[in-house]
Amino acid sequence: MPTSTSTRPRVFSGMRPTGQLHIGHFLGALGNWVRLQDEYECIYSVVDLHALTTGYEDAKGIHDAGLEMVADWLACGVDPGRSIIFRQSDVPQHAELAVLLGMITPLSWLERVPTYKGQIEELGEHLLTYGFLGYPLLQTADIILYKATRVPVGQDQLPHLELSREVVRRFNHLYGPVFPEPEAIISEAPLLLGMDGRKMSKSYGNVITLASPDDEVERQVMSMVTDPQRIRKEDPGDPAICNVFAWQRLLGADDAEIAEIVEGCTTATLGCVADKRALAERVKGIVGPIRERREALMQDPGHLEAVLEEGAHRARAIAGPVMAEATAAMGL
Ligand code: TRP
Repeated sequence: MPTSTSTRPRVFSGMRPTGQLHIGHFLGALGNWVRLQDEYECIYSVVDLHALTTGYEDAKGIHDAGLEMVADWLACGVDPGRSIIFRQSDVPQHAELAVLLGMITPLSWLERVPTYKGQIEELGEHLLTYGFLGYPLLQTADIILYKATRVPVGQDQLPHLELSREVVRRFNHLYGPVFPEPEAIISEAPLLLGMDGRKMSKSYGNVITLASPDDEVERQVMSMVTDPQRIRKEDPGDPAICNVFAWQRLLGADDAEIAEIVEGCTTATLGCVADKRALAERVKGIVGPIRERREALMQDPGHLEAVLEEGAHRARAIAGPVMAEATAAMGL
């Protein structure tokens, strides 16, 4: 069990409790989180304050969504015996440090973060809040409050990490070397596309969540778009442009299985329906055990709350002294 004297480099990452996790999260971010536990001291946070930056109008569901997300994490192999798992709002130093960072960060740095203008264009003007502008500073506080040096994130988060590094340099320059500069670990998320070939997203209805029952998995997989040129089974197909084939590969089909599919598809002996049936079996084999574990965990919300409580306790034990160091450096 890691202690504060652990010499392993420290990892911090967080996820917003904004909706159900899907199989893409499992293959990308979460799979990475699970593996990192072997080598690093990992701290994983349900960043509920961040969820408020886009979901402040309907905040009531955030608590329960966080609990459900933790069930997904544990079901996928995030291990509270080895890693610290906690709710951001249970550790007040996150908000406190974010305020201090806000004092030293030029507005222009925040305005030029690409997600800022992009998300407002995409999601609407209700995001024109002080909190949303400050999102990357809260994220910076999350990381440096634990002096974490490694941050597993997707490609889309790189501008935030770059800003974090700039803010750290500015803090250290003004007040002395308190914080290390965090570095991203890019999870080369194998890009699983949704059933229709678009990005997987709940709003497109093209996802398989970690809670999907077998019949839902089947329904989704059977609705997948294959090579659009292949209209009848007698037409040879092209696996290179087939989403079903991409899924087979990303979900671990071995070389022999891949060769068999390529052969069958290109010679028109394997039909798309049979191909999809085989994929549905594979997906059920992955999602089924996760779903069963998450259901068992959801039966006992008290246990999940206790995991978060204990995590918060351990997180505060690190965050408190670091916060004291920061305020002392600033002369408060
Ligand atoms: N912004 C991240 C995302 O949307 C979530 C996040 C919040 C985060 N705080 C963090 C990620 C700290 C890594 C480290 O994915």
